[in-house]
Amino acid sequence: MVRPLSSLISRKAAGLSGRIAVPGDKSVSHRALMLGALAVGETAIEGLLEAEDVLGTAAAVSALGAAARRDDDGVWRVAGRGVGGLAEPDRVLDMGNSGTGARLLMGILATHPFTTFMTGDASLCRRPMRRVTEPLAAFGARFVTRAGGRFPAAIVGAVDPLPVTYRSPVASAQVKSAVLLAGLNAPGTTTVIEGRPTRDHTELMLRHFGARLRIEDAGDGARAVSLSGQPELAAARVRVPGDISSAAFPLVGAALIEGSALTLTGVGINPLRTGLIATLEEMGAAISLTDVRTEAGEPVADLKVAGGRLKGVDVPAERAPTMIDEYPVLAIAAACAEGATRLFGVGELRVKESDRLAAIARGLAACGVKVEETADSLVIHGTGRPPRGGARVAVDLDHRIAMAFLVLGLLSEEPVGVDDAGPIATSFPGFVDLMNGLGARIATEGSRP
Ligand code: S3P
Repeated sequence: MVRPLSSLISRKAAGLSGRIAVPGDKSVSHRALMLGALAVGETAIEGLLEAEDVLGTAAAVSALGAAARRDDDGVWRVAGRGVGGLAEPDRVLDMGNSGTGARLLMGILATHPFTTFMTGDASLCRRPMRRVTEPLAAFGARFVTRAGGRFPAAIVGAVDPLPVTYRSPVASAQVKSAVLLAGLNAPGTTTVIEGRPTRDHTELMLRHFGARLRIEDAGDGARAVSLSGQPELAAARVRVPGDISSAAFPLVGAALIEGSALTLTGVGINPLRTGLIATLEEMGAAISLTDVRTEAGEPVADLKVAGGRLKGVDVPAERAPTMIDEYPVLAIAAACAEGATRLFGVGELRVKESDRLAAIARGLAACGVKVEETADSLVIHGTGRPPRGGARVAVDLDHRIAMAFLVLGLLSEEPVGVDDAGPIATSFPGFVDLMNGLGARIATEGSRP
């Protein structure tokens, strides 16, 4: 999708206060549409994230024969085709900006006996796909990609798929999920071993739809997930929790501005996603979880945060998978905290929607913050005083870089701008209105709120 650039500017705010719900979880939304497409019967999804990435997946499953529609009650319904029941699409599937949509769907298509062509935006076309094409080839699928395993790609699904055992060299829920989803239409048992546990939404939702999974400790912190192939998945009702990765932006803004009092309702608190909360608490943030409950297998709670002063901390590499999407906004918290915050083992950030390590380092330096960057670590030197700000940050098709630097503008001495607000719509439509409703002052550049 080509959009005109629209820039935003964020100015100092007195606080973020109120009680709000954030939009639905992106990871859970993609998976609900895909498993709904592979189930027998009609799956109903409440609270689906209606953002570009997920709408792209809804369009893709529809093009594959599993019509996904939004009804007047706001519930999405997917006409499932059963495991192995998808049909060859008659056009190229455009997955937009979405690595999750693309990689998980490649897993499903690897064990469907037809050819699919897939592409995406400039960001997706520079991201590595070999991490999924390599294990998926073991099922018998073939892939034609651009140099370096890049999109666009053709996926030639296996006619007689074989089950696979794969030890993933990267801590990636997308790789794990792609292999498990491919294993759905292979006979026998497919196993993925991950060195460190990553988000387990695929496993939880597979069980919710009736698949049989075994999850075992594989020693040294590793975990093995085994799936019995060719199950009959039964259509289910899914309630999508609020996205902790979206909640992270108002949460950090409120934690940093004294006088803030914010409640975020119905946020997913899957323990493999809550590394940011643990880190903010170590930094001294006052966060509490109330009304903890379980919805469609996922733990959910209301998060309360009050503003205060934060101090720098070390964030160990082991924590990275549980907060991988939250580093951009954590870096903003670190820039405002007192003392150094050291982020270890974060090389994966270089292959997200943009090279996030470089984007964070460049943006913070432009805002007057001292930063040291290596291949896979970042040290941010906060002074305990608000950073200078006063820069216009290049977003480079990355929604989280845009939102993180708009949070910095709420605190910095001078306003902070971002050159392209468009990518925010991939994950958090309504971000600006929601933030301004809490007390932020984010406006189209040139106007004043
Ligand atoms: C996701 C996994 C993570 C994360 C992404 C969503 C998922 O990616 O960054 O935003 O839904 O499985 P990786 O698997 O590349 O770490």
